[in-house]
Amino acid sequence: MNNNKEFPTVNIGLIGCGVVGQGVWKNLDAYREGLEKRVGSSLQITRIAIRDIDKAVQAGIPKELLTTKPEEIVDDASIQIICELMGGIEPALSLTKKAFQNGKIVVTANKALVCDHGSELFEIARQNDADYFYEASVAGGIPIIKTLHEGLVANRFKQIFGILNGTSNYILTRMEREGLDFQPILEDARKLGYVEYDESLDLDGIDAAHKTVILAFLAHGQWIQLSDMRIEGIRKLNKLDFEIASNMGFKIKLIAEITRDFRNNQLTAGVFPCLISQKEKIAHVDEVFNGISVSGDIAGETVMIGRGAGQNPTSSSVISDICDAVQALKGGPKLTEIFTPCEESADLKISSLDKIIGKFYFRIKATDAPGVLAKIAEVLANNEVSIATLNQKESNDKNGTASIMLTTHKATEQNALDTVKKLASLEFVVEEPVMIRIFNRVK
Ligand code: NDP
Ligand code: HSE
Repeated sequence: MNNNKEFPTVNIGLIGCGVVGQGVWKNLDAYREGLEKRVGSSLQITRIAIRDIDKAVQAGIPKELLTTKPEEIVDDASIQIICELMGGIEPALSLTKKAFQNGKIVVTANKALVCDHGSELFEIARQNDADYFYEASVAGGIPIIKTLHEGLVANRFKQIFGILNGTSNYILTRMEREGLDFQPILEDARKLGYVEYDESLDLDGIDAAHKTVILAFLAHGQWIQLSDMRIEGIRKLNKLDFEIASNMGFKIKLIAEITRDFRNNQLTAGVFPCLISQKEKIAHVDEVFNGISVSGDIAGETVMIGRGAGQNPTSSSVISDICDAVQALKGGPKLTEIFTPCEESADLKISSLDKIIGKFYFRIKATDAPGVLAKIAEVLANNEVSIATLNQKESNDKNGTASIMLTTHKATEQNALDTVKKLASLEFVVEEPVMIRIFNRVK
């Protein structure tokens, strides 16, 4: 085991120095004195890998620290901690593996990599007496990783839910406030630089799903495959949905949810737009903010709200990990060690759709003609879905259509999906029907 005296200076390499990397560079420098006192070592960023040297120099990074060859950092024996802030799967995956094989601690903000390869990477880190820290990979500046494995360690979690993608939350907030449709607000979000290069990550729920997988592993010791999750994005929503939701006391949010049924040892995870009661704190997390509600059996509900992205908040989490990494380097607790799945997770099953029960909202655009509503009701009845409320709005188009919005009593997820499929096949239904789940708090 190492001790404090062996690391008067800790050398750090950054792989990637864009939005987050520059935040780490700037804030580590600005808060150096206090941080160094806290960890008992001098913290030095000694090497930085990027692709475009001139761009980095223009951003104020000293040229002598820069390289375009990240392998040099991974193989540099003088560097103890590497911050992987480049994003994507390759070459980040190979570089991270090599860093572990060289015995280094890696700090990352790369949620896609942790989600897709976390299981393998934690194992390689363990085998090589290395370590992997990833606070910034979920919810930017909100310290949710630490909260789950430290502050709430004594708890078993029946439900974790929240808003894990800031870009989609920004779009939904403006749709609600301004009564606009999705497309014009997406244009604004693009102009503001909020939307990821691969827009599908933000708009189709994939980025939030990556984060959900990480939280599910932390809370329940099992890696869920994205294919085992229900993942839907926000593209299908329109202003009518917000109007109806608001009249019924709901907001519409892209909710990430992990629910554990301890009696049957089943786990459900998903990301989907939800009608969520305005009484829920998470319903009021607006703009680009993230919010997470964690219900533990001892602590009860804990809600954390904060900035889920951006240079300063994300670098705050990376720097927090650097401080923990220094302690791990000196023989303190290793983060990867807590990932040995606990016994009760061994038989944990992912719930099948016919076991998931909820209430739903449907919007159906149909020809406005006699008998149409009756036929829609018949489809619902045939699929054992019972109507709770009903609204109809005539469209202003020349085609004589109307939008029918209804909510249901409890039904299985499978029956609700079968209903949508059947409705879509009806001749008088002129658009793909929309189904939105109504958020269900587990008692
Ligand atoms: P940026 O695109 O701003 O920065 C990426 C950096 O990595 C750039 O410096 C780029 O160099 C460098 N880079 C990329 N590929 C290579 C390569 N092959 N070799 C060397 N350098 C490379 O990304 P962000 O800072 O926004 O994101 C970094 C990570 O943090 C990602 O995993 C992201 O998902 C995550 N994250 C980001 C948040 C945010 O708010 N931005 C929030 C939470 C997590 P160059 O500039 O020269 O091309
Ligand atoms: N695209 C992500 C978001 C960035 O909008 O939340 C932070 O992970």
